[in-house]
Amino acid sequence: MAVRKILLGVTGGIAAYKSAELVRLLKKAGHEVRVVMTRGAEAFVTPLTFQALSGEPVRTSLLDPEAEAGMGHIELAKWADQVVVAPASADFIARLAQGMADDLLTTVCCATEAPIAVAPAMNQAMWSNLRTQRNIHLLGEDPQITLWGPDQGEQACGDNGPGRMLEPAVIVRMLEGMSSGGLAGKRVVITAGPTREPIDPVRYISNHSSGKMGYALAVAARNAGATVVLVSGPVTLAAPAGIDIRHVVSADDMLKASSQAVDEGCDLFVATAAVADYRPENCASDKIKKSSEVMSLPLVRNPDTLATIAGRSDAPFTVGFAAETSDVAHYAKDKMQRKNLRMIVANDVSAPGLGFNSDNNAVTVFWADGQETIGPDSKQIIAQRLVTLIGDHLKQG
Ligand code: CTP
Repeated sequence: MAVRKILLGVTGGIAAYKSAELVRLLKKAGHEVRVVMTRGAEAFVTPLTFQALSGEPVRTSLLDPEAEAGMGHIELAKWADQVVVAPASADFIARLAQGMADDLLTTVCCATEAPIAVAPAMNQAMWSNLRTQRNIHLLGEDPQITLWGPDQGEQACGDNGPGRMLEPAVIVRMLEGMSSGGLAGKRVVITAGPTREPIDPVRYISNHSSGKMGYALAVAARNAGATVVLVSGPVTLAAPAGIDIRHVVSADDMLKASSQAVDEGCDLFVATAAVADYRPENCASDKIKKSSEVMSLPLVRNPDTLATIAGRSDAPFTVGFAAETSDVAHYAKDKMQRKNLRMIVANDVSAPGLGFNSDNNAVTVFWADGQETIGPDSKQIIAQRLVTLIGDHLKQG
């Protein structure tokens, strides 16, 4: 991994003590690290700790004439080729989302052209709070900013839930993934989320897919230098910045939108969507009224977007996903052959806490003469590693 100039922002939270380990690991990996602390962070860890670990003076104040005479805030912003804010408190996230520049760290974030990675850490109720989530959505729409985490689990306050900062070693691996650039200049089309198949004007058939894996892959592909079209079924995720997102509802729409995106030019097609296999034969024009005790609904097969794209004479490098509950390798390889795919990413959806509608996943990727298991890990890391692996195979042709 190339040596990078990493500006680490530390904000006020109990996870600040973990950032000392983060500095140690970054230095060990050979990077240059400079630390900026907010006033809240100083209540948890002293600047001296970070100074000793980074070997550089730690900046804490925007209005410190002596420090500004050394490396001023604008020079600091220009020096960094990557900003990482870990832990990022709810307060810092709110200020960043609003573009405020009321302390050194937010000012540097305003002034820098480097990518900014934000690793939130807070109590689970603060994380789930509507205002925090609104700010997180705003950050998700900012092309300069990538969100890393948070993790789920036990919290310092005794609560259990989302809001834990990613472990320092995970943050270092996220940085490694970001520098891969393995899809530079490539055009990538990704399908994500569920589809909805209408029964009548108010009802539909669908599934629990959250779209998280597809969205994480789209962001990872964008970060690796690709131009990305994301064909998305109905999900509640924020549209990631710098990605051409095309919203669809049904399996039919998904095929049409994907075919069009591939017509526009596509080197790599990745189908993560959980497409409904069947749809009601007819969509009633009026709301169906209840009558008999038992009701049956004739269903017909939906078109297979992935197989259709892979079957084109000008097919791009095509990667599918397979959700299996048993005999994963056998079924996944069979699917790869039947659909004429170059690679298939298999999930064991019977594993508790992984896969469908979860933040974590573990996958095994199969190709003609090999396989590799990735995870269990967060979907963001799985996405980065998948993009690196797929990018390597794409290069080999
Ligand atoms: N897929 C698709 N269009 C469909 C169905 C599936 O593009 N109409 C894609 C999915 O996005 C995924 C792969 O095909 O990449 C999954 O294949 P599929 O045969 O649907 O898997 P399962 O639903 O698990 O199949 P089965 O029920 O036969 O196990």
